[in-house]
Amino acid sequence: KQKDTVPWFPNHIQDLDRFANQILSYGSELDADHPGFTDPVYRARRKEFADIAYSYRHGQVIPKVEYTAEEKATWSTVFRELKTLYPTHACREHNRVFPLLEKYCGYRQDNIPQLEDVSCYLQSCTGFRLRPVAGLLSSRDFLAGLAFRVFHSTQYIRHSSKPMYTPEPDICHELLGHVPLFADPTFAQFSQYIERLATVYWFTVEFGLCKQGSEVKAYGAGLLSSFGELQYCLTDKPKIQPFDPLKTSLQKYPVTEFQPIYFVAESFDDAKERVRKFADTIPRPFSVRYNAYTQSIEVLNN
Ligand code: TRP
Ligand code: FE
Repeated sequence: KQKDTVPWFPNHIQDLDRFANQILSYGSELDADHPGFTDPVYRARRKEFADIAYSYRHGQVIPKVEYTAEEKATWSTVFRELKTLYPTHACREHNRVFPLLEKYCGYRQDNIPQLEDVSCYLQSCTGFRLRPVAGLLSSRDFLAGLAFRVFHSTQYIRHSSKPMYTPEPDICHELLGHVPLFADPTFAQFSQYIERLATVYWFTVEFGLCKQGSEVKAYGAGLLSSFGELQYCLTDKPKIQPFDPLKTSLQKYPVTEFQPIYFVAESFDDAKERVRKFADTIPRPFSVRYNAYTQSIEVLNN
């Protein structure tokens, strides 16, 4: 039967609990030049965060974390630098939501917001929720979460020695880079459509540029959370090409340094339509429909 040839995927939001222990371990790919690798205090702290994520189950309140003075100082630097860049470098959707997060979610230079508070706020905007994750999920698992409007989010912060750019996602990246756009309805819808398309995801949600009037602005979360790369991406150093899923989805990319190439979308709506058309061309022996009332994926056999 065809059904047996399709690898398991989550059908219900609770099934995401099965991903918790499928993390690429801290200690493999990224590590050699990781700024925290040789700092035993940092590594011990990371383990505390990993344990929260491992024991988390769908439906629970995300445990609040007391951040240390050093962690708050790192956040403070990142927050201050990015806040000065956003008006000129970030897209208008990001700039629209940011003040709301300051008003409702404790986004401040002297405060690291709690995932639970942000998750509740996002649910009221677009139905997206956060779920703590211990480290890097496979793209397949990560993107499957988006199908249920669940965004897997790290809770630890980057190492204090390198606030400007860090080689793996951290809470600055999630809260400052991703959360503002997951509060935007058009963008939230867009994110749910592309759950299988890791490379397209990379060059849009993570590192996308878009036209706004006669200018180009950043909307990718990997840019909006790195004050090094946010400045670099709008200079003439990187290569820039129009966003075209057919071509973009074939592009190779480095994961631990500034991107050598970016793709510019005409608008979120245009990007969404292009990705939808592209997704229609992917052959699969069934189709799926998301049922928001039961938070389930329905498999339709054609
Ligand atoms: N460089 C990003 C920052 O400074 C964090 C990051 C690391 C990242 N790896 C990534 C972002 C991959 C997106 C995708 O905040
Ligand atoms: Fe990200």
